[in-house]
Amino acid sequence: MQLKYKSYWRKSGLKGKWGNIFLERLSKHNPKNVLEIGVFCGVTAKNTCEFLYKSNGNNFNYIGIDLFGGHQSEIKDEIEPTFLKDQKFSNPLKNLYYNFIIKENLNSIESVSKFLKSYKDNIRLIAGDTNKVLKEIDLKSIDFTFLDGGHSYQTVINDLTILYQSMKGQKKIILCDDYGKESFIPEVEKAINDFVKQNNLNLNLIENRFAEIIT
Ligand SMILES: C[S@@+](CC[C@H](N)C(=O)[O-])C[C@H]1O[C@@H](n2cnc3c(N)ncnc32)[C@H](O)[C@@H]1O
Repeated sequence: MQLKYKSYWRKSGLKGKWGNIFLERLSKHNPKNVLEIGVFCGVTAKNTCEFLYKSNGNNFNYIGIDLFGGHQSEIKDEIEPTFLKDQKFSNPLKNLYYNFIIKENLNSIESVSKFLKSYKDNIRLIAGDTNKVLKEIDLKSIDFTFLDGGHSYQTVINDLTILYQSMKGQKKIILCDDYGKESFIPEVEKAINDFVKQNNLNLNLIENRFAEIIT
């Protein structure tokens, strides 16, 4: 299968070669049910659904969780990449189109739902802070998680702990962004290292960026 990550004239956390490297991880593990924590504008979500559709036909599920512009409930110290803070585009045409013509917030649940509408029967988008909502979701069928939501130590530990409760010993995949030096967030690295050590897990460093944990 040809793996080419498309950016769809939106914003994505996985620019340039990183989108294709992400798709290679999906291809290697060939999941049916994927969870993405941190959906942002839905570009990785759409690429993931396209991949899942090509591999499984309609027999797949995608769950995406994001604040979708809501306020983080109790966490005051969340670390956000600067490109998330407001909807600024380096391309002036994009700025004109999204901010002045259609006036669409690409990180809203309405915008992402519309963007993913061809997969509406296979997807579930959840608006909320993972520190609250993740424990309420049935994660048993999830084979592959892309962990790319809150970047504070507390949130990463919370998310990994809840995921691991449902996935322990089942050889499921948790691919974590912003671990290695190519996209380094110190709190993310520390949380992942502490978690892996406490649970005696192995971690693969992928292209000096992603940490891949097999449960
Ligand atoms: C780096 S972006 C995700 C990029 C996306 N995975 C992609 O490939 O384009 C991080 C996202 O996580 C969301 N986020 C931050 N803290 C969160 C939290 N505690 N719970 C849920 N989502 C959170 C933000 O709203 C933001 O959209």
